[in-house]
Amino acid sequence: MTQPPAGRGVRIVGTGSSVPDQTLSNADLEKILDTSDEWIQQRTGIKTRRVVDKAAGGGTIGLACNSLASAVANTQTDPKDLELVICASVTQEMHCPSAACRAAHHVGATNAAAFDLGAACSGFVYGLNIADTLLRQGRYKKIAVIGSDAMSTVLDYSERSVSILFGDASGAVILESVEDPSLGCIYQSMGADASNWQCLYLPTRQVDVPEVDKDNPIALGNLRMNGREVFKFAVKKFLAVIEDAVEQSGVNIDDISQLICHQSNLRIIESAREKLGLEKERVYVNIDRVGNSSAGSIPLCLDEMNQAGKIKKGEKVLFVAFGGGLTWASSLWQL
Ligand code: ACO
Repeated sequence: MTQPPAGRGVRIVGTGSSVPDQTLSNADLEKILDTSDEWIQQRTGIKTRRVVDKAAGGGTIGLACNSLASAVANTQTDPKDLELVICASVTQEMHCPSAACRAAHHVGATNAAAFDLGAACSGFVYGLNIADTLLRQGRYKKIAVIGSDAMSTVLDYSERSVSILFGDASGAVILESVEDPSLGCIYQSMGADASNWQCLYLPTRQVDVPEVDKDNPIALGNLRMNGREVFKFAVKKFLAVIEDAVEQSGVNIDDISQLICHQSNLRIIESAREKLGLEKERVYVNIDRVGNSSAGSIPLCLDEMNQAGKIKKGEKVLFVAFGGGLTWASSLWQL
């Protein structure tokens, strides 16, 4: 989609987030896996991550409830004004009811429709794009978009190649329809290609496991990943999605104040940043502290940036994500 639809615009009212208290550092992983802090930092940029206390009932739904509650409180939104709650996730403990339904109920959003969206790590940006489109039409006045994933609950910690990468987090944004059409998402793109789906998947039945992966030692119910394949895809796609957004929108890359990208792996982010010639200050990074939290990654970055005063009225920011599916998405915003 090259042009924002005519009509109304969209404003980011505010943000919230939630991360578990418990940390899982590289030193902790060294105790249970044949790995090292040095290897993990060199290959991923990660030092530590947050993980839910699964035994105590922690998980994706709880994180989603908390991040929405935090966004509602930070913005002093009357939860009854929310008309729709979208929650992007791939790790919900229950698929029915949705995590979005539970989060809406948790904050008292009794007038809101609610649904979950599954596009793996791209899910939050998919949600932003959908919400912006609905708000511009004027059919909805206020929408909350959440990204929430408790990746630690779908990792096999006896296997070192996947489990070192991920952590748990949730973030939420409240969006509002406004009169000025120049505000909000000025360019968006979303894509999917399942021709290589088996390089990142979460099987629960042996029958779904492709022949090439039948000897994978990771137990069913846990995430499986061909790191090298995903890495190649991510480096290429990340750059292509940004270049597409710049070309199609006609916005000069120098006029984008912040790139808010999925925290997949520091090497992937750095490779795109260097190829685009962007200064470090324009590409937010928190993967060192929280790991890759899938759909929770971008909204957590957004909330941290917002609380730090980095989300400024009048500026342009570009959200970029890619993930399982394989899927990808961009969303260029005029704040
Ligand atoms: N500690 C120590 N050694 C390890 C570990 C570990 N945790 N994991 C693998 N190794 C070893 C391997 O066994 C291999 O050894 P060998 O050469 O003797 O066979 C060696 O290290 C290299 O393994 P690779 O898998 O090639 O390592 P690579 O450099 O590709 O790094 C990684 C692995 C970090 C997973 C990388 O491929 C990656 O980040 N890929 C992208 C993953 C990603 O971004 N996924 C998420 C995107 S989408 C989403 O967020 C859901």
